[in-house]
Amino acid sequence: MLNDNDQPPQSRDGIATDEHPRVVVADIAARFRLPGHVITFANEKGGVGKSTLAFHTAVALASLGQRVVAIDLDRRQRTLHRGLQYRHGTASSVGVHLPMPVGAVLDRPSAAQLWQEVLRLDAAADFIVIDAAGADSPIFRRAVALADTLVTPVNSSFLDLELLGRHNPVTREISQTGCFASLVTELRAERIEAGFAPTDWIVFKNRVRHAEKRQGERIAEALQALSRELDFRIGQGLSERVAFRELFPFGLTHLDLKHLPGMSQMEAHTAREIDRMMADLALSFSEEAAPRLAQPPKARRLNRSVAAFSEALAAYR
Ligand SMILES: Nc1ncnc2c1ncn2[C@@H]1O[C@H](COP(=O)(O)OP(=O)(O)OP(=O)(O)O)[C@@H](O)[C@H]1O
Ligand SMILES: [Mg+2]
Repeated sequence: MLNDNDQPPQSRDGIATDEHPRVVVADIAARFRLPGHVITFANEKGGVGKSTLAFHTAVALASLGQRVVAIDLDRRQRTLHRGLQYRHGTASSVGVHLPMPVGAVLDRPSAAQLWQEVLRLDAAADFIVIDAAGADSPIFRRAVALADTLVTPVNSSFLDLELLGRHNPVTREISQTGCFASLVTELRAERIEAGFAPTDWIVFKNRVRHAEKRQGERIAEALQALSRELDFRIGQGLSERVAFRELFPFGLTHLDLKHLPGMSQMEAHTAREIDRMMADLALSFSEEAAPRLAQPPKARRLNRSVAAFSEALAAYR
């Protein structure tokens, strides 16, 4: 039987049982094909940068003229969704046109609600960016199974790699596949069996500190071994930078600075890292996107707020 809500299925004695990957894939295969290319940001490890990368990716894609639907599965933190709400507030208060992904948070996470929200927001979206909350659940499994591109951020720590696999520091081999990687592997296999295109799985190092060179090299070696074993690509990732978090209360990324009067230009290394992340995703773009970029600003200018917002933003100059 298909399970369509966020509670794990229960056996007769009330013990939670995980949904089999075949059931999960059969469920998504039985529904309408969603429009656009699905990019899911997922890792069962929390705090690794899923929402930060999802937000930057959604904004970067919208900046390229793509129609982006951003779905937040984390109904408690709502980071991706809040970022987009703040972004609307900034655009309308300052009176600027910002490339705008449309978004929703699933309050009752179910496949039915996911489909409904995507189609309601933009039935002709080019990309659907999903921020999957950091814990296994039926909707988390569907988000992973749906991914044409699956992005898994990890921090530069062996503790984070455990969810992918155990790296033996003596033999330097992978001794055991981690719980998240096992789930991804099974869902990918079922996806292919059901006739979907293979998932492009990419692991990004995030919050890399260049001062930790030796640790960074050991992590890179372990990730290489894992990527061979689990068949994922490794992105060059993002370093630890205030630029990737300071503008969140405004719903902005450094990509937006050029739209804002009086703001300084984005630093070259921040721009390079975002460009590199987008290049690593290796996405294909629709050809109609360019004219959409030329659309005139739609924002309403509220004079009272302009001064207050500009003053607050100026502190980040
Ligand atoms: N590259 C980066 N440089 C600086 N700070 C970062 C970077 N990436 C993420 N952060 C910060 O790390 C923290 C965790 O990031 P984020 O909330 O995106 O992770 P998450 O995986 O979505 O977490 P959760 O599992 O709780 O949903 C946040 O404070 C965020 O601002
Ligand atoms: Mg998050």
